[in-house]
Amino acid sequence: MSSTIANREHGALWGLVDDLLGRQRLILASNRGPMEFHTGPNGELQHRRGSGGIVTALSGLTNYVDFTWIASAMGEGDRRASEEQGGKAVRSPVAGQQVSVRFVTTPRRAYHKYYNIICNPLLWFLQHYMWSSPYTPRVDAVVYDAWDTGYRLVNREFANAIVDEARGSSLRPLVMVHDYHLYLVPGMVREQLPEARIHHFLHIPWPASSYWQLLPGMIRTAICDSLCQADIVGFQAQRDVRAFLESCETFLEDVQIDYREHVVRYRGRETRVRAYPISIDVDEIRQIATSPRAAEYEERVGAELGKQTIVRVDRAEPSKNIVRGFQAYEVLLEQHPELCGNVRFLAFLVPSRTHIRQYQRYAEEIDAAVRHVNDRFGTAEWQPVRVFYENNYVQAVAGMRLYDVLLVNAVIDGMNLVAKEGPVVNTKHGVLVLSESAGAYEQLKVGALPVAPADIEGTARALYQALSMPAEERAERSRLMIESIEREDITHWLQRQLEDVKALPG
Ligand code: G6P
Repeated sequence: MSSTIANREHGALWGLVDDLLGRQRLILASNRGPMEFHTGPNGELQHRRGSGGIVTALSGLTNYVDFTWIASAMGEGDRRASEEQGGKAVRSPVAGQQVSVRFVTTPRRAYHKYYNIICNPLLWFLQHYMWSSPYTPRVDAVVYDAWDTGYRLVNREFANAIVDEARGSSLRPLVMVHDYHLYLVPGMVREQLPEARIHHFLHIPWPASSYWQLLPGMIRTAICDSLCQADIVGFQAQRDVRAFLESCETFLEDVQIDYREHVVRYRGRETRVRAYPISIDVDEIRQIATSPRAAEYEERVGAELGKQTIVRVDRAEPSKNIVRGFQAYEVLLEQHPELCGNVRFLAFLVPSRTHIRQYQRYAEEIDAAVRHVNDRFGTAEWQPVRVFYENNYVQAVAGMRLYDVLLVNAVIDGMNLVAKEGPVVNTKHGVLVLSESAGAYEQLKVGALPVAPADIEGTARALYQALSMPAEERAERSRLMIESIEREDITHWLQRQLEDVKALPG
């Protein structure tokens, strides 16, 4: 196996990777890759780590095995880097990432339809229950066209790149496909590589079939049909597994569902449906948090703290419920005027999907909510809210070291990795206020304070409880969460999936 070892501590995973990937060729595919290139001020190619949950979760895998990661060329930088390699894989220049990245370059118009019309908003909004069903979505001819000439086309290009990589090796391909951008890839790869092991992991929730029924039958059937060409379909939580099995039963013909064993039998194949709650690379994030770069940011962020500080770290994204978070903070200041001047709210927000109308509008709403709180309560010496609006992971990690309270109040979330990163890097036994509908809640309820995402009053009360919590209770709650996160970190997530791949018949 062409592998590099950066971390031998996790022996079981290492053994499994060695055994399994000595005989199979791992090819991973996700829309966003582990890094991206952009053009610097002097026309030179610069790079940075990709953002979002997949990158956070899978970068650790590069410590165990050297593989090819297939991802979309996001911008001109990626396109240029890819062209310079003649379309072949590029070695990631990001420190610690031992991986080759093969960019899938599709016509800009097709990518726009795929990403800005189908993936986000259509599928993302649907899967986070964010449509207001009497009015939205409006599935018109534009959406039909985007499905055919955007979503299908990009999925086809990914499938072709996977097949090309697989054919370059004599080993049996193990194709791991990630997320809602690539639902059609398992079916398309299966047509060309009947022997491949195919594993599809979904990072976001799978809603009830009655909600999927908002979409045309041909879309939901194509999605289920393709996913059932994978050997394993992985979800974040049991709630998603159940909902998927039920969707297959509702949308597919001549299908058999085994609700006890969580298996779908369809078109002569068996697909195992499993929950693998994703986690973080605890060692990696601790290293980042204690790096000299983080220390520099810590100094800068430290200058912004109040006597106590509430922090949030999110993509600027409607499902993260950022506006309601500021509204809850406003209620808190209204009910507890003694906190004015003493408590600050630092929000580390990453610009996201900025070409999509719903995201532009939401970014404006965030702005307006911040202005409103600052105008209402701010003084010459004290601004209640400070927003850091940029894609700067290390700065956000520095922020997570310093919170007294971390607010994660998502409307619904597949998992939410910030909720796991915060407790392991925080230096103050800070309290986590966590949405009950985030996948992470199941594991972290041992220490977190729960909130219902629409409950502004309840969120304000939870923030107050967190700010006034005695030191021993804070310490105990964070100890319980850290223990659980360390026990089930990213290696555990990977290991469980690879064990299931290994146990597949044939
Ligand atoms: C979520 C999704 C990922 C996605 C990330 C960032 O975590 O599950 O698939 O990459 O958001 O979103 P973006 O659209 O910027 O890739």
